[in-house]
Amino acid sequence: MKNKEIKIGLLGLGTVGSGVWEILKNNAAAIEERSGIKFQIKKILVHDLKKKRSVDVPASLLTIQPNDILEDPEIDIVVELLGGILPTQNYILKAIESGKEIVTANKALLAEKSEEIFQKAYEKSVSVGFEASVAGGIPIIQSIREGFVGNQIEEMYGIINGTCNYILSEMTSRKADFHSILKEAQEAGYAEANPDFDVKGIDAAQKLSLLTWLAFGVLPHQGVYVEGIEKITPLDIEYAQKLGYVIKLLGITRKQEEGIEARVHPTMVPQDHPLARVNGVFNAVFLKGDAVGEAMFLGRGAGMMPTASAVVSDIIRAGLSRSVLKPVKPVFKSESMISMVSINELHSEYYLRFSVVDKPGVFGQIAGCLGEANIGIAAVYQKENEVDSKIPIVVLTHKTLEKNLKQALEKIEKLEAVLDTPTLIRVLAHSGNK
Ligand code: NAP
Ligand code: HSE
Repeated sequence: MKNKEIKIGLLGLGTVGSGVWEILKNNAAAIEERSGIKFQIKKILVHDLKKKRSVDVPASLLTIQPNDILEDPEIDIVVELLGGILPTQNYILKAIESGKEIVTANKALLAEKSEEIFQKAYEKSVSVGFEASVAGGIPIIQSIREGFVGNQIEEMYGIINGTCNYILSEMTSRKADFHSILKEAQEAGYAEANPDFDVKGIDAAQKLSLLTWLAFGVLPHQGVYVEGIEKITPLDIEYAQKLGYVIKLLGITRKQEEGIEARVHPTMVPQDHPLARVNGVFNAVFLKGDAVGEAMFLGRGAGMMPTASAVVSDIIRAGLSRSVLKPVKPVFKSESMISMVSINELHSEYYLRFSVVDKPGVFGQIAGCLGEANIGIAAVYQKENEVDSKIPIVVLTHKTLEKNLKQALEKIEKLEAVLDTPTLIRVLAHSGNK
């Protein structure tokens, strides 16, 4: 019997779209053998028909008219790899309306508009695959939805932005400058079209929103606390190493009695923690389920082929869902049903760096402010030589409530001898960050 043929409309032929083209071409025989389906890309939407492409695609497949795909009744699956919210959202909704299966890698869109998109897809009995939207090539979404479906998930945390991990790793290993490393990440195809989304932690927060939804049923929208890596200096990286840590941008989501904690920020990771050894574009996600216990996933979190690997897995599942699988009704609990825990209620250890004038008694004043707020000091490190005519003082605190620490820092910042806003980096405890 002849295998089923499924036609794909590809929206976008940039980094990820080109990877999808390559995999479907190079691995066509294996994919057909494993799925019983012959996939064919029928049309590809691009911006610029004249642009030089990194893959060898017949010019006849390219179009600048979205309706060549969205209104073509022969196209079964629309694979959205454009990025952004508009017009992308409209294209996806129109494709769903026409009964097409959807595959997307667009975490920015899903973090904002999942309720509408998944509800509409359910009504139209089509699937929305989004494996590539979180942690690149790591099959984390399928694992949560299928592999761990029998568990109550208690927490998930890890490195979920490849660009930031690449920048922080390279700043640590070869002491290169932030902007030149960011440029490398852009050239390698890791960064978002606007790299501010990466370095300001927005991309990681969008991914964490999706993980929070998958784990706890609530899409937190504005409820994720976000700090990026822009303020991390070579000095902090140097101190981190001296004190036995590595700085990583982590996303952390956890269910507590009081509600759900969801935060993205630079974190001091102990050098002997497995996350400390996750470098370059690699991502790693820890998950804790009530039945399975702890599980860890590691893989490339961005880039052409790893991301395309995840997209193709969704394409094949979408092909199968045409005949076998049926979409499940989406569940979105409202944020008012499950409250989000404010970052101010976090109990953590902290790394603090102060820039002060070089005169006796300054550390005493800082320690006094911390002491008044009941904040215990675990270690102090003071560099003897001035850096830009300032003396850095680094303090590691014992576990304390973030609200109290911030109040103490407000007082410290007002001291005459303190020259800049203090740097605060949360420390990951060995058993996560509790
Ligand atoms: P990209 O390299 O910038 O490619 C975007 C493609 O979409 C280009 O081919 C562009 O056309 C086309 N395009 C954009 N807007 C369009 C419009 N309005 N009309 C027609 N064509 C349009 O982006 P990418 O890195 O492949 O990322 C695509 C999506 O995957 C984004 O949502 C991103 O967040 C997500 N993602 C990326 C990665 C990664 O590692 N890069 C990983 C995971 C998820 P032209 O080529 O003609 O300019
Ligand atoms: N810009 C993203 C990153 C792409 O660097 O992780 C993968 O989602």
